[in-house]
Amino acid sequence: MKIREFVHRLFGVILVPLAVFGPFSFIRVWANKARGVRIGRGVWIGYLAFIDQPPEIKETMVEIGEGTGIGFRNSIFSHDSSPEWHGSECDFRKVVIGKNVYLGANVTIMPGVTIGDGAVIGACALVNKDIPANTVAVGVPARPIKKIVRKSDGSVEYVALK
Ligand SMILES: CC(C)(COP(=O)(O)OP(=O)(O)OC[C@H]1O[C@@H](n2cnc3c(N)ncnc32)[C@H](O)[C@@H]1OP(=O)(O)O)[C@@H](O)C(=O)NCCC(=O)NCCS
Repeated sequence: MKIREFVHRLFGVILVPLAVFGPFSFIRVWANKARGVRIGRGVWIGYLAFIDQPPEIKETMVEIGEGTGIGFRNSIFSHDSSPEWHGSECDFRKVVIGKNVYLGANVTIMPGVTIGDGAVIGACALVNKDIPANTVAVGVPARPIKKIVRKSDGSVEYVALK
């Protein structure tokens, strides 16, 4: 491993505690950006939220759109390993979280998932499939339960999904 790559990886590892345990959201946002996570303006990241940007991967593995809130103790994963690999090899898939999304506390997002703009994910959900824009999804695994209709006058209506 070249020295430059070693320093890059070391930096990524050292930043993890700040990204997770930083005392204010702006510190957690800064540390995650420095690790390589792409984060839009006005994003709020809750305490103890872990965003999986493996230091050995140079490309951005998690994108978070502007105005989005990442809840307390969220886990956003971009890597996977199967039992047969014994953790020695990983499959990396990018996670994309849109703009103005709200993730409740303790949400887990699996590798490769895309969450559309304006979606709301309920506390403790396990998101293993894409969630369309402006949709409320809850549960393990997360299922859409409501459509969010944003009207031109600024009001919001929720339409239950059968
Ligand atoms: C998802 C959420 C926004 C939905 O709120 P809501 O639109 O008012 O939803 P409702 O209370 O009308 O619930 C609708 C249905 O979803 C279920 N539901 C709501 N939230 C749920 C959740 N987190 N997990 C599982 N089911 C949930 C309700 O039990 C209800 O089911 P039912 O129709 O069978 O009775 C809210 O429940 C939630 O989880 N908020 C996150 C709070 C949080 O994490 N705060 C800390 C952030 S750091």
